[in-house]
Amino acid sequence: MNSMKPSKITIIGTGYVGLVTGTCFAQVGHRVVCVDSDISKVKMLQAGGIPIYEPGLEEMVKENVASGRLSFTNSTKEGVEKSDIIFIAVPTPAQPDGGVDLSFIEAVAREIAAHMTSYKIVVDKSTVPVKTGDKVAETIKRYSKSKVEFDVVSNPEFLREGFAVEDLMKPDRVVIGTRSQRPVQAMKEVYTPFGAPIIVTDINSAELIKHAANSFLALKISYINAVATICEASGANIEEVANGIGMDNRIGRRFLNAGIGFGGSCFPKDLSAFIKISEQLGYDFGLLKEVQRINSQQMERFLKKITETLWVIKDKKIGVLGLAFKQNTDDVRMSPAIDLCQRLLKDGATLRVYDPQGMEKAKSLLPKTVTFVTDMNKVAEGCDALIIATEWPVFKTLDLDHARKTMSHPILFDGRNLFDPVEMEKLGFIYKSVGR
Ligand code: UDX
Repeated sequence: MNSMKPSKITIIGTGYVGLVTGTCFAQVGHRVVCVDSDISKVKMLQAGGIPIYEPGLEEMVKENVASGRLSFTNSTKEGVEKSDIIFIAVPTPAQPDGGVDLSFIEAVAREIAAHMTSYKIVVDKSTVPVKTGDKVAETIKRYSKSKVEFDVVSNPEFLREGFAVEDLMKPDRVVIGTRSQRPVQAMKEVYTPFGAPIIVTDINSAELIKHAANSFLALKISYINAVATICEASGANIEEVANGIGMDNRIGRRFLNAGIGFGGSCFPKDLSAFIKISEQLGYDFGLLKEVQRINSQQMERFLKKITETLWVIKDKKIGVLGLAFKQNTDDVRMSPAIDLCQRLLKDGATLRVYDPQGMEKAKSLLPKTVTFVTDMNKVAEGCDALIIATEWPVFKTLDLDHARKTMSHPILFDGRNLFDPVEMEKLGFIYKSVGR
């Protein structure tokens, strides 16, 4: 690890981004105070529990709390007083019109202003529309009691849920957006231990980098899903095509996995927000609207495959493997798998479901009539069809022999292309996947 000067850092908001960021900062030696207004969450964290499932995080939180580098409080005043650098990592939820609700950011900016008594660097980590940094600066200036100096910095986060610790500890790049040179050295000291390239730019560009990056990744997924449709119509195989184009370094193989579409709390929201921001700036971002359209069509096409095979969904018993919006997480927000379950239930199906981590959170989104099975190998028992809805690698180890023998009909709809079509047919399944 590079030699470093520990920084005093406060993180406001202990959601996915805030908690993982604060913990990783402590891990490399900084002193970190995490603030959250939810007292029960703060108590849980102080006691060594964590409110989310994220591989590697729990151990890291415990280790850093024990070392005294990481602490939790519900007092913003304490957080502001104790540190020189204050990160804002509060939610920026979607509004019904696709815009972003910035009220939490504004409230935190006012609180920081109220408690500031010396120079602070206020860093926005939450995903926000371009020009938010300027508004945060105006707000702090307006609400601070004395003329305390401060700088606002935009430092977007690129972590993926399920790989958050890995992404934080080994980032591809760190983006620092600032108006003045004054906070640059301190920000570099925060990030030097991570050994990643640091890009210093203006605030507006830093904010745009985040929305432009996420929208591009979503575009990549919709592109491969559109190509998958052409593969199905022409008899080509999407895996072969994705491998063939992905080996071009300019394109890359990652985010070229066809399936039932993207979900989660970032891509759908960030895409809508970017379209809205562009509209407000006078540009109709039709390309991104098409990305959204392909994504919703992808689910319709998968459902059509199911109804074409089963004909009538009413009273069919269907097993569903996967509820989280992707592998390695318990997050079921905006999950294509949950959407699929709800659509099948609406058509009268009976469901047996399983997810390695997402079952508890899914219970609040699905009706009591759904059977939550605790052993993935038992989900298919007695079913007319089995669906794979999330790309958990563990599903590749499914006892296929047991599934085939115990299903009333061995029909498998693989929404994440986990299995090989030739092998599955050899095993006696009617097997339908995406783009092959
Ligand atoms: C994303 C970005 O990757 C991350 O940089 C940003 O900070 C937050 O948003 P996340 O939403 O955690 O991260 O998950 P990601 O791994 O990007 O997957 C998003 C969705 O796309 C999932 O539903 C996943 O199943 C889907 N996906 C991903 C595909 O359908 N195909 C792929 O090839 C990759």
